[in-house]
Amino acid sequence: MDWGISNRLCRILKPATGRTVMLAVDHGYFLGPTSGLEEPRKTLAPLLPYADSLMLTRGVLRNCVPPGIDIPIVLRVSGGTSILTELSAEGLTVAMEDAIRLNACAVTLSIFVGAEGERETLLNLAHLVDEGEKYGIPVLAVTAVGKDMVRDARYLGLACRIAAELGAHFVKTYFCEGFDGVVRDTPVPLIIAGGKKIPEKEAILLAWSAVQAGASGVDMGRNIFQSECPGGMIRAIRAVVQENASVEQASKIYDQARGAAQ
Ligand code: 5RP
Repeated sequence: MDWGISNRLCRILKPATGRTVMLAVDHGYFLGPTSGLEEPRKTLAPLLPYADSLMLTRGVLRNCVPPGIDIPIVLRVSGGTSILTELSAEGLTVAMEDAIRLNACAVTLSIFVGAEGERETLLNLAHLVDEGEKYGIPVLAVTAVGKDMVRDARYLGLACRIAAELGAHFVKTYFCEGFDGVVRDTPVPLIIAGGKKIPEKEAILLAWSAVQAGASGVDMGRNIFQSECPGGMIRAIRAVVQENASVEQASKIYDQARGAAQ
């Protein structure tokens, strides 16, 4: 692999563990002002010290992230649809030159395997990989799931493998039963999304189970910034991903932080 791509990947997937705690705050690109992200600047400030990487759009990056911060940026470069219409018809929204101007460490887009936008979004991925290879910028493919899609190992394995075959340097997907098989069949690092908000201990268990099954970390949003104690939650998830903490140890970290915040 090109040295620049490898080096940028190592800034995200920390070499000591090969894993990352990626904080996802890109939801507004199709959801608007999501709960917990109404004022991204305020949400982000206390969480950034505990994140290994940050996934967001160029609008939030430019307006809500201090340029002095030392965190690798995973820039969302797909969109063009909203929750009100057909989500899968995404196009590319940022030129690679602008991603480079913004000092992005990686670019990311969603692919919609099995949905209306399948062909277009897979070709977007192939195009983005070509652009990324030109400039040494890795591409994170996000396996988005449509309303009618089951999140099982067969479907997610298909989507992740296609993403890797088209050249994605790493892939974000959902955890599922049989996730170790999805990891085995995908020849690039896999990270998992948190998904909809669930009780804190369940989200900690989700992260732990994914890492045990071979995930290279998490790309977690709502289960952190919609938590009763976002700072405690990111610290707990960090302990699981980067320090191999057990669910009990991480839950204690969360409980203590929550207690101290009250
Ligand atoms: C939205 C995304 C999100 O960044 C991703 O789903 C992670 O966030 P969450 O943990 O809230 O699911 O890619 O398309």
